[in-house]
Amino acid sequence: MEPIKITKSRTSKSKPADDKLEFGRVFTDHMFIMDYSTEKGWHEPRIIPYQPLTLDPASIIFHYGQTVFEGLKAYLTPDGDVKLFRPEKNVQRLNRSNDRLCIPHIDETLALEAITTLVSIDKDWVPSAEGTSLYIRPFVISTEPYLGVAPSQNYQFIIILSPVGAYYKEGINPVKIAVENEFVRAVAGGTGEAKTAGNYAASLKAQEMVADKGYAQVLWLDGVEKKYIEEVGSMNVFFKIDGEVITPALNGSILEGVTRSSVIELLKDWDYPVSERKISMQEVFEAAKQGRLEEAFGSGTAAVISPIGELSWEGESIVVNHGETGAVAKQLYDTLTGIQTGKQPDPFNWTVIVE
Ligand code: COI
Repeated sequence: MEPIKITKSRTSKSKPADDKLEFGRVFTDHMFIMDYSTEKGWHEPRIIPYQPLTLDPASIIFHYGQTVFEGLKAYLTPDGDVKLFRPEKNVQRLNRSNDRLCIPHIDETLALEAITTLVSIDKDWVPSAEGTSLYIRPFVISTEPYLGVAPSQNYQFIIILSPVGAYYKEGINPVKIAVENEFVRAVAGGTGEAKTAGNYAASLKAQEMVADKGYAQVLWLDGVEKKYIEEVGSMNVFFKIDGEVITPALNGSILEGVTRSSVIELLKDWDYPVSERKISMQEVFEAAKQGRLEEAFGSGTAAVISPIGELSWEGESIVVNHGETGAVAKQLYDTLTGIQTGKQPDPFNWTVIVE
């Protein structure tokens, strides 16, 4: 494995106060970058001062969106250590997304080393206030200048870091979600399972249409019958009905969230009834009307656990749990953030200390 070459920045940017942090607006002093060519494979892994990229305007990324990304976080513990949460899962998923987008695999050990070395260099940027963290955004872009539709011969794998606060302006308070009936995000056989830019670009229109009505995001239904629940734009989704926690089963068009699988593992560990299965909007609305829908919440790296206080569908709205955070969502939020920030024991060995 080629060693990572490090060039440190001579200056450090000023850091925003922890209580002023938004999501993804400021970036740290350094970035990781590595090139790919068909002749050399992945080569020249390096950490350099954070800087703009120079790319040919014909680069495939700009025209056909051949790109993938990941999202994970680093947290500061009360002892002053910096911890990552299940980073190997993100690196594995990066390669699954790469497969789908015809991007060459990246050595997982090197990708993990790139993440930990970069975070270690910019350790001072990990914020300490409750609900804050250092968001890590690895991504791959296709850089070959070519207007034919074909997999690129050249790529760059880049990692940037951003100290962040809560993803939603509501923080950990319940968000309002609108169920989307017109547009779809993905279909089985499409790219829904991959973490690729086009899925998010495809979601903007629907989100824009509901944003001015006070909805934080839309909830996507399946692309065929528009009946079954898939996910919310930046998180997977869970419903507690009659004491059972239900989340849509992975079907090829839903993103396999790292927080989603951690939630399922925690609930099983707590002996909560939990199932991954098809669940329709009809079923959720009927349960709500009969007083059997006890909680709804989303899970994601950026969003952590985000309670859903209101759901609107076909002109009707239901308020979930009186618009308040439910007990299961609260317990999951406290446990996950407790493990992530080292304030609670980590019985599953999910966290990794960055030296
Ligand atoms: C994450 O949760 O890290 C995501 O990738 C969602 C992102 C689109 C903000």
